[in-house]
Amino acid sequence: MKLEVVSLTKIYRHNIRNKIGNKHICNDECVIAVENVNFRVEEGEFVCILGPSGCGKTTIVRIIAGLDSPTSGEVLVDGVPVRGPGKDRCVVFQEFALFPWRTVLKNITFGLENTGVPKDERERIARKYIRLVGLEGFENAYPHELSGGMKQRVAIARALAIDPDILLMDEPFGSLDAQTRNLFQEELLRIWYETSKTIIFVTHSVDEAIFLADKILIMTARPGKIKKEIDVDLPRMRNRTSKEFNEIRSCVLDELRQEALKAMMMQHMKRLS
Ligand SMILES: Nc1ncnc2c1ncn2[C@@H]1O[C@H](COP(=O)(O)OP(=O)(O)O)[C@@H](O)[C@H]1O
Ligand SMILES: [Mg+2]
Repeated sequence: MKLEVVSLTKIYRHNIRNKIGNKHICNDECVIAVENVNFRVEEGEFVCILGPSGCGKTTIVRIIAGLDSPTSGEVLVDGVPVRGPGKDRCVVFQEFALFPWRTVLKNITFGLENTGVPKDERERIARKYIRLVGLEGFENAYPHELSGGMKQRVAIARALAIDPDILLMDEPFGSLDAQTRNLFQEELLRIWYETSKTIIFVTHSVDEAIFLADKILIMTARPGKIKKEIDVDLPRMRNRTSKEFNEIRSCVLDELRQEALKAMMMQHMKRLS
């Protein structure tokens, strides 16, 4: 097993928090973002986390990345608790966060600077990943000269250049149009085959999750918990219009619909109270 998330709870606190026994008691000043989340990811597995907006997906990614700490519970990578960011994990966010004053090549070499890798070697590695994500010819372009899709390719290449064991992707294709998004999904699978990374991919698109994942973790509305794990046992490349794809789609949509209804009811009751 590569990664284990154990009883993970995250409470964002604006003011007061109390803990009685094992139970966190919150007033209006705090938000229970995720509560008692447990899951495991095997080496080389492609796992999608699927859930409604605000259910704590980004929170989980940030904690796995070591960018934030849990209120309780822990994340183990190769059996070792995560204490902060590390070279074994890298995140690709939806907003590409490229350096506007650096070229494509220099954006990708960035993560390798200060690691003792000599300049020539850094550039050789960057060129390798530029090829892998299909950006040859754009080495010297600046971010403002690139389309949204191309910027996301740079962000992916930059993450891969660090050669992490685990690639965390938080709605990375959220800002792409539907056609480009489908192409990117296919390319990501190709990259996954070629690099054998463990990938944890967050999305709220049901189709994206079914197209990509070995395993889908469906989350509940806030406070986010894992509601269901679904193994997607279809050969790749998957046909989005096949009967088997459709069967999984209806099953997932059903789970999500229950959550959306619950969230709506909760909002309604809050308004009445
Ligand atoms: N830094 C923060 N401080 C307070 N509340 C936060 C913070 N980050 C996220 N939240 C709240 O936690 C919940 C989960 O957020 P997030 O993990 O971003 O959800 P998702 O990525 O699924 O949309 C949301 O209600 C959000 O408003
Ligand atoms: Mg998010």
